[in-house]
Amino acid sequence: METGHISVLACEVLTFLAPKLGGVYVDATFGAGGHSRAILDAVGKNGKLLALDRDPDAIIRGEKLVKLYPGQLTIKHASFQNLGDTLIEWGEKRIDGILFDLGISSFQIDQPERGFSFRFDGPLDMRMDHSLNSKSKTAADLVNTMSDRELSDIFFKYGEESQARKIARAIVFDRDEKPFRTTGQLAQLAQRVIPNHKRGIHPATKIFQALRIAVNGELDQLQNGIDAAINALSQEGRLVVISFHSLEDRIVKQTFKKVTSHPQVTGPAALLPQTKLPPLPYSLITKKPVIPSIEEMQQNPRSRSAKLRVLARVTI
Ligand SMILES: C[S@@+](CC[C@H](N)C(=O)[O-])C[C@H]1O[C@@H](n2cnc3c(N)ncnc32)[C@H](O)[C@@H]1O
Repeated sequence: METGHISVLACEVLTFLAPKLGGVYVDATFGAGGHSRAILDAVGKNGKLLALDRDPDAIIRGEKLVKLYPGQLTIKHASFQNLGDTLIEWGEKRIDGILFDLGISSFQIDQPERGFSFRFDGPLDMRMDHSLNSKSKTAADLVNTMSDRELSDIFFKYGEESQARKIARAIVFDRDEKPFRTTGQLAQLAQRVIPNHKRGIHPATKIFQALRIAVNGELDQLQNGIDAAINALSQEGRLVVISFHSLEDRIVKQTFKKVTSHPQVTGPAALLPQTKLPPLPYSLITKKPVIPSIEEMQQNPRSRSAKLRVLARVTI
């Protein structure tokens, strides 16, 4: 069941990335290619874009776009956590703008067989890279083998689920009788264990988010990816990141803060007169995150939790 994907904060991405004619850009999360297409149109025939996605299905879907932008667009099946190596292979060291639009696309959520959604029954998979050589374990592997302590930690840390222990204990109890194979089984367990959940939000929401993050190692990948992106920016280059939950946004916010502030001087050195501080190589373009307009949230409810932050390179 494919319903297509609407690119989030599309105008804002273009405004902040400010693609220039003939520039060199990276879309670290190609997805359905909406943002990539907008960047390609803005950079013109002499510009180029490298687009990455961890999901092999996104790469196959993107082949049509490669034909529409011959010589301009390269699409690669790779995780953005290896961005440094990927750029060496591509032959470009300095990049004028890099975009990360995190999370999963509507194509992924709306396909029951990918196992990302509690709204449809499908195999409990959740791997973004489900290719044959993928080394990731599935969500079912985690749910059926981890101890209740490990599961509870995942639900609490990655889902901020207050009933983490109760859910983990119920999983371990139930799986003896019947291992978890489907999203439906897990969604039903959440409904049973936390029946008085907040109205309007499915009780499985947080544990599905937590398992997805654990299966795909999303937070470590994000940290490695944005560190590599920050290094690769050209002078005046821009890094734009759209996150969809507080754990992602915290990593982006703290990493941007770290590279745009002078390290604090502590101990006896703090008592000495401060010499003039050297200029910082990066500057923060968005002091506060940019969020979608009410109209965008109404038209595309999946944009509701989006937060966009931007960093620029000042000197190399
Ligand atoms: C929200 S979608 C991007 C949508 C895209 N910006 C558009 O306009 O169509 C996020 C995409 O990032 C991919 N992704 C997530 N983590 C990744 C990673 N570590 N490396 C590369 N791609 C990743 C997902 O597979 C998904 O296709």
